[in-house]
Amino acid sequence: MIEINNLKKIWEDDGSSVLEGINLKIEDGDIYALVGRSGAGKSTLLRCINGLTSYQEGSLKVDGCEVKDLKEKELREFRRHVGMIFQQFSLLERQTVYQNVALPMQCWKYKKEEIDRKVRELLELVGMSDKMNAKPRNLSGGQKQRVAIARALTMDPKILLCDEATSALDPKTTNSILELLMEINAKTGITVVIVTHQMEVVRKACNKACILEGGRIADEGSVREIFIKQPQSLRRLLGEEEMKLPKTGHNIQIAHLVNGLEDGELFGKMSRDLDYVFPILDGKIMEYQNDHMGIFVINVDDEHLDAVTDYLTQRDFNWHELENLSKEEKEGEK
Ligand SMILES: Nc1ncnc2c1ncn2[C@@H]1O[C@H](COP(=O)(O)OP(=O)(O)OP(=O)(O)O)[C@@H](O)[C@H]1O
Ligand SMILES: [Mg+2]
Repeated sequence: MIEINNLKKIWEDDGSSVLEGINLKIEDGDIYALVGRSGAGKSTLLRCINGLTSYQEGSLKVDGCEVKDLKEKELREFRRHVGMIFQQFSLLERQTVYQNVALPMQCWKYKKEEIDRKVRELLELVGMSDKMNAKPRNLSGGQKQRVAIARALTMDPKILLCDEATSALDPKTTNSILELLMEINAKTGITVVIVTHQMEVVRKACNKACILEGGRIADEGSVREIFIKQPQSLRRLLGEEEMKLPKTGHNIQIAHLVNGLEDGELFGKMSRDLDYVFPILDGKIMEYQNDHMGIFVINVDDEHLDAVTDYLTQRDFNWHELENLSKEEKEGEK
């Protein structure tokens, strides 16, 4: 388990703060996403997890062990069990696929037979057995990332850190790499931490996520809940404008998995059943893991609020009322 409490990091050269008040828990076997815009502090947080960079305040424990307290030798041993992959693959161009995967084990002076067994096993796992003798320059981006994944797994890590591992790949290849990571996670129970700015990566592969904004956590929790809640931080990440909501009535956001046509009928049917016509303020359907999730916002008057919410609850729709006052307005009211 990775447990982070009140972590704060300052860049020592200019005293600027890059991470502040970070609290999160990553359980064994999670596929956890760290998402945010460029410069939000994602890579820095990832580097704190494997001890490549330190932090000034708070605590970051991996399996109960405070990373910043590790001595150099302990840190080397610790890092051995944390795999890492990057956007730019970081393979040695002059070496073959086989040699690239064998490298970490050679450094740790494993026996030749053991190295051979492990390299073959891992190349089989990532579907690259037939390219064993190829050089990286003759591989596609997706194939290079498969080799990098095999190399990251040589020491049987308990944690795999991925920094924008799919950002240089086209959508189809991205999907195939995510499917591979999901398969490895299901087979071995390895914890995967994925740094990305692509929400589609989060939707497809991750069970939990944390949205970082300017070095702070804007939202955190299960991916399903984040998508159902649609916090403003998520909308900002998706490049959507903050919703301007009417100040009268109640703005009800409804999220549900879309299966078949019947859901498109929801509003028409609700309107007929309740004999009440209401405006739909926003609506979209997005891919969510193997399903589609519909997110809608409707505006309901005082008189019909109970009828509408009872109707939704009875039919198992996830709904909640959105705040219709801006922060400044709320502060002004106090
Ligand atoms: N060594 C450093 N010294 C000072 N500032 C740094 C250093 N490394 C990174 N930064 C700054 O820290 C902030 C966070 O950087 P970080 O690389 O963690 O962001 P990121 O979320 O991974 O962004 P990206 O999506 O572009 O990779 C940025 O403002 C960056 O300019
Ligand atoms: Mg980064």
